Amino acid sequence: MKNIDIVVIGQTGQLSCAYHDLFKHKNNLDNVCFLSRKDLDLTKTSEIAKTLDSLFCNCNVKVVINTAADTAVEDIETHKDRAFQTNAVGPGILASWCAEKNTHFIHFSTDYVYCGDGKIPWKETSETAPLNVYGASKLAGENKIIETACKHLIFRTSWIYSSVGRNFFTTMLQLGESKEELKIICDQIGAPTYAVHLAEISWAAYQKICNKNPFPSGIYNLCSNGFTSWYGFASKIFELAYPLDKKLIVKKITPVKSIEHSSKVCRPLNSRLALEKFQKTFNLDIPHWEAGLKECMEIVYASHPTQD
Ligand SMILES: NC(=O)c1ccc[n+]([C@@H]2O[C@H](COP(=O)([O-])OP(=O)(O)OC[C@H]3O[C@@H](n4cnc5c(N)ncnc54)[C@H](OP(=O)(O)O)[C@@H]3O)[C@@H](O)[C@H]2O)c1
Repeated sequence: MKNIDIVVIGQTGQLSCAYHDLFKHKNNLDNVCFLSRKDLDLTKTSEIAKTLDSLFCNCNVKVVINTAADTAVEDIETHKDRAFQTNAVGPGILASWCAEKNTHFIHFSTDYVYCGDGKIPWKETSETAPLNVYGASKLAGENKIIETACKHLIFRTSWIYSSVGRNFFTTMLQLGESKEELKIICDQIGAPTYAVHLAEISWAAYQKICNKNPFPSGIYNLCSNGFTSWYGFASKIFELAYPLDKKLIVKKITPVKSIEHSSKVCRPLNSRLALEKFQKTFNLDIPHWEAGLKECMEIVYASHPTQD
């Protein structure tokens, strides 16, 4: 069997697809193994270590990147056990496996670990107080990873979107083709993060420190630069898409407050993440959210040129 030095948990998600494209672009796919839920189910906790042992017994895996998570924020409210298995217990077992093998572990967490009060960007040291089950399960995952003392990077990110799959960006373009008016939340503020940029910059960060001793294990906020609301994000999507997409019929975007929008999940209003710790540690430029959106737009309309 060929040597695998990078294992990516998750195969169909937004971030894992971005990692796949990144490694393909670097001509590096031969050394990388992507594991789907069928290959390794994070809820089947008793099988995780055995599966990794049997798949990689003859390999010297340098890094495991966990992109998998139960991200169905609304559904999770009524499936707490599944959420904690997938987002906390499973990642803890992955981290233990990495600790035992002296393998590095990269994991992604969320802005939802914070309560969302105020207007000041959250630092990694700010108090955590998740408002919903998703946030609580992701916070528990961070703690389980840290407990194992493996060499880890935990990136807290926010509002991931890409040109594929179901996310805010693709949903807006779909709705814009079927509705003339959209009501979009204007009081939740954060940074829309293009999955391609997140894969690139998290990998670049890891490359910078992978040979460092001691390894700078820890939690790092990592999302796009700049902030906006979902309303601001939607407005920019349509501003850029209108000249390119003749199928769009949406004429009015109305800002609404979270309390006017019916949802069984409480979400943080302030999802601003402070990026100084990441910048100081890795000395890398983080792209602005508008730059990510422009790139994503180019991908969408290059593959589906202006539809008449
Ligand atoms: N999306 C966001 O806005 C956001 C914001 C902050 C942080 N994050 C974090 O960033 C990371 C990447 O998010 P993403 O948006 O790329 O996620 P995503 O698109 O929702 O993909 C999640 C992936 O996890 C897999 N998965 C779910 N349950 C699993 C299980 N029990 N065992 C194995 N795999 C399982 C899914 O597989 P299937 O296709 O089989 O379901 C899918 O491949 C996650 O850690 C997420 O918590 C996301």
